[in-house]
Amino acid sequence: MKSLESPASILSFCLLLILLLSPVLSRSIPRTAELEEGNGGNAKEKAAGCDGRWIYIRELPPRFNSDLLRGCNSFPIFSDDFCPFLANHGLGPRTHNRSRSWYRTDPLYLELLFHRRLLEYPCLTSDPAHADAVFLPYYTGLDALPYLYSPDFYNNSAQHGLDLHRFLHDEDNPKIWARSSGHDHFLVMARPAWDFSQDPAADPQLWGTSFLHLPGFLNLTALTVESRPDPWQEHAIPYPTSFHPATIARLESWLDRARHSHRPTLMLFAGGGGGGGPNIRGSIRAECENRTDLCEIVDCSDGACAHDPIRYMRPMLRSRFCLQPPGDTLTRRSTFDSILAGCVPVFFEEISAKAQYGWHLPPNEYGNFSVYIPKEEVVFNSVRIADVLTAIPKEVVERMLRRVLDIAPRVIYRRHGSSAGLRGKKDAFDLAIEGVLRRIKRRIGPPTLSEPILFHDDDDVEEINMMDGLE
Ligand SMILES: *[C@@H]1O[C@H](CO)[C@@H](O)[C@H](O)[C@H]1NC(C)=O
Ligand SMILES: *[C@@H]1O[C@H](CO)[C@@H](O)[C@H](O)[C@H]1NC(C)=O
Ligand SMILES: *[C@@H]1O[C@H](CO)[C@@H](O)[C@H](O)[C@H]1NC(C)=O
Ligand SMILES: *[C@@H]1O[C@H](CO)[C@@H](O)[C@H](O)[C@H]1NC(C)=O
Ligand SMILES: *[C@@H]1O[C@H](CO)[C@@H](O)[C@H](O)[C@H]1NC(C)=O
Repeated sequence: MKSLESPASILSFCLLLILLLSPVLSRSIPRTAELEEGNGGNAKEKAAGCDGRWIYIRELPPRFNSDLLRGCNSFPIFSDDFCPFLANHGLGPRTHNRSRSWYRTDPLYLELLFHRRLLEYPCLTSDPAHADAVFLPYYTGLDALPYLYSPDFYNNSAQHGLDLHRFLHDEDNPKIWARSSGHDHFLVMARPAWDFSQDPAADPQLWGTSFLHLPGFLNLTALTVESRPDPWQEHAIPYPTSFHPATIARLESWLDRARHSHRPTLMLFAGGGGGGGPNIRGSIRAECENRTDLCEIVDCSDGACAHDPIRYMRPMLRSRFCLQPPGDTLTRRSTFDSILAGCVPVFFEEISAKAQYGWHLPPNEYGNFSVYIPKEEVVFNSVRIADVLTAIPKEVVERMLRRVLDIAPRVIYRRHGSSAGLRGKKDAFDLAIEGVLRRIKRRIGPPTLSEPILFHDDDDVEEINMMDGLE
């Protein structure tokens, strides 16, 4: 028998040790963020905090993500060059050289900025077998662009996703998907689910790819900016605004500014549209043009506001109510801009927010931070929005103005690499991850008689504590 001192046995002892420790090692990928923080603690403590929260990021070939970014100067949408907005991992370029928290963010890059944020998630594991959830870094919306906007591809839109499906089920290790039949996989779609849910049998083909109809993807979870009225795979998360602070001080200084902002204007509409027959945008325009003393319009036609947050944030700071009518889509990024500006959103359809963002905006508190006026009342029953809003007692309006800013930290996406202090507050990303983990846990957890494995209305409102992350 060799003595323990021989180099060979020391080597094999070390190998054994590495093998024994590998589950621990593989879970504690060191991150610069933690090193900065200096409170990484030991692996055991960390593992305890990560119980039930481990995420594995699947390795995908670059054709599913980074290669898609290369075409940024020739995306088939409008004529814009989208390359500048790739800056800062999808946050876009800063609005001005001296600005620190404001960026020209294009919501299309949510897939990219979400991926970047996940890279600094504290509970990443490199072992799929130990993961509670598996992230697919697939830029779904970018890959869909040709099917949506290039006429040569319209008729092929049922093919969107087939390549990814082949990769997950055949090319790559199929065990990773099979472990939970895909119920533990999730991805991000920076567009409304409507854009991915055309029935492949539709004739003629109308709009959208058929990604969400592929039988192979029915089990995964898609985080979209807008879910369908009867969502299945998807759950809505906020559109990114242009504000991405990196420290608590910058967040607080903005909230303070919004809190103390003088708001002489009753209501504001930032947007375009409103032509054609009777519709809510048309009614809003008519009313605003008639009541210039109470209402302000920021004309955002032809994408004028898309990359220019100053254009609408300043007017939003001057207004008490911000009108959020549906347009081409039911939801609007502007809803989140107005919350951030401390301007109380006014909705005209429940599907515009209340039926969507349950992880971020608790559905049972809408009355405290928003106003709802059914659009039919305005369009067909001559209800004047200004009359409804001026009838709300002053102290109620003041309470709403405060409440909307309490919520604001929940809907912003802080900058990657933020300070430890700011990372202690839950932002839109953190709440999305918590929601995904809850949803997956319920899907792959032991089935109970009262709770079938599959369900689709999973906004567990009672678990949401509005004060979470607000101190
Ligand atoms: C911003 O900074 C860049 C490089 O530092 C410079 O080229 C550019 O002119 C600056 N822009 C303004 C508006 O100052
Ligand atoms: C797409 O299909 C329609 C009929 O279904 C046909 O009229 C049209 O020419 C096709 N477009 C292309 C680019 O093949
Ligand atoms: C989806 O999940 C069900 C069980 O919940 C399973 O029978 C089915 O095979 C799964 N589909 C795929 C494509 O993995
Ligand atoms: C515009 O104002 C006039 C006078 O106040 C009023 O009669 C009319 O109904 C208003 N129209 C709209 C669209 O609000
Ligand atoms: C508003 O918030 C209070 C608690 O602050 C709650 O009791 C009340 O039910 C809420 N009202 C609505 C309509 O959401």
